[in-house]
Amino acid sequence: MVGSVLMERMIAENDFKGFEPLFASTSQVGQAGPDIGPDFGSDIPPLQDAYDVEKLSAMDIIVTCQGSGYTQKIYPELRGAGWKGYWIDAASALRMEDSSIIVLDPVNRDVIDKALDAGIKEFIGGNCTVSLMLMAVGGLFQQGVIEWLTSMTYQAASGAGAKNMRELVAQMSAIGDASESLLNDPSAAIRELDRKVIETMNSQDFPDENFGVPLAGSVIPWIDTPMETGQTREEWKGVSETNKILQTKPPIPIDGLCVRIGSMRCHSQALTIKLNRDIPVDELTRIIADANHWVEVIPNTKEDTIKQLSPAAVTGELRVPVGRIRKLNMGPEYLTLYTVGDQLLWGAAEPIRRMLKIALDYLS
Ligand code: HSE
Repeated sequence: MVGSVLMERMIAENDFKGFEPLFASTSQVGQAGPDIGPDFGSDIPPLQDAYDVEKLSAMDIIVTCQGSGYTQKIYPELRGAGWKGYWIDAASALRMEDSSIIVLDPVNRDVIDKALDAGIKEFIGGNCTVSLMLMAVGGLFQQGVIEWLTSMTYQAASGAGAKNMRELVAQMSAIGDASESLLNDPSAAIRELDRKVIETMNSQDFPDENFGVPLAGSVIPWIDTPMETGQTREEWKGVSETNKILQTKPPIPIDGLCVRIGSMRCHSQALTIKLNRDIPVDELTRIIADANHWVEVIPNTKEDTIKQLSPAAVTGELRVPVGRIRKLNMGPEYLTLYTVGDQLLWGAAEPIRRMLKIALDYLS
C-alpha cells in the first residue's frame, strides 16, 4: 500500500525524470513494469527479481517499501556482497541502527545533510505517528521549548495494513446490513437498534480475522507488540524515534497511549506538552505555523474544528492541521493541541519520496 501511494506521488511530482528507474518485485517478477507516465512510454523494463543481489548491486540507490522481513533478508546480503549504494527504506527494521538516519526532511534536513557528508548510506522513513507529530509540532522542538510531551493517539486502520482497511469497511457493512430494517423504521426503539448493533458485533460470523475484535463501533487501545515497560512498541517508538530524528541530547521524555480507531488512513493525536517556560499561546501558535509549509493552524472554534480537524477533511492531503491549541488549567506551562494527518503520505511515502530526491541531488 505504501508502495502504491509512493508511486502515485512520484508520478504526480514528475519525480522519475533525471535518473533511470528499474522496478523489482518479490512476487511479480517478469510482469510488465509500471506505467510511470507518457515520457517513459514502453521504455520501462519488466519487473526484476527483488531477491537478485547481483542485479540490485548495480544500483546507486535502492528504495524499498517491501517491509522489514525483506530488509532483514536482503540488506545484509547486499552489503556482504560489497554494495556501497544508498538504501532508502519505509520499513522499520534498520530505523534504530546507529548506522542509519530516520528521514523527515522538513524537520531534520540538517541531520540528513550532515549524514550524507559523513558517508551514511541508510536513510529510513519514521513511524507514521511520530512523523505526523513532528510535522505538526516540529517548530516547538526546534525552538527548544518542550520539557516533555505526551500523546494520545487515534490511529487509522491503514496503519495495520490494507487487509485491515477492508475489514473495517466489512465490519461497518455487517452492522449496517443487520440493522437496516430497524434503521428504516422510525418507530423502532433505540434500545432495540443498539441491541442489534452489539449483537452483530459480538456474533461468531462478524468479520474480525485481522483485528481479532470489532473496530467498527468500538476502539482498540493496543497497537503493535508488548514491551517490557508495559508500553506497546508503537508507544515506545514515540520517545525513541523522535529523539533519533532530532538527535536530541539528552532525550526529551515522550510517552502516551496509542489507540486504533475506525478511520481509514488518517492518524489523529491529542498532545499535552510541558513547556520549559511560560510562553504566550499566540507566540506558540506562530512557532507551530511557521515551522514548515504543510502545517496549518485551525482556529479553536467549534465550526473550524469539526470541519477542518478530522480524517474526513484531511485524507489524501499533505496538509497537517493543528488545532484546539490552548493552555491547560494545570498551569501556564501546560499546552494542549490536536492534530490530524494522512498516515500514508507524511506518515510513510512522502519522506521516502523526498529522500530519494535529496540523494539524487547529492549524487549529481
Ligand atoms: N504502526 C503504525 C500503525 C503504522 O499501526 O498505525 C506504521 O507506522
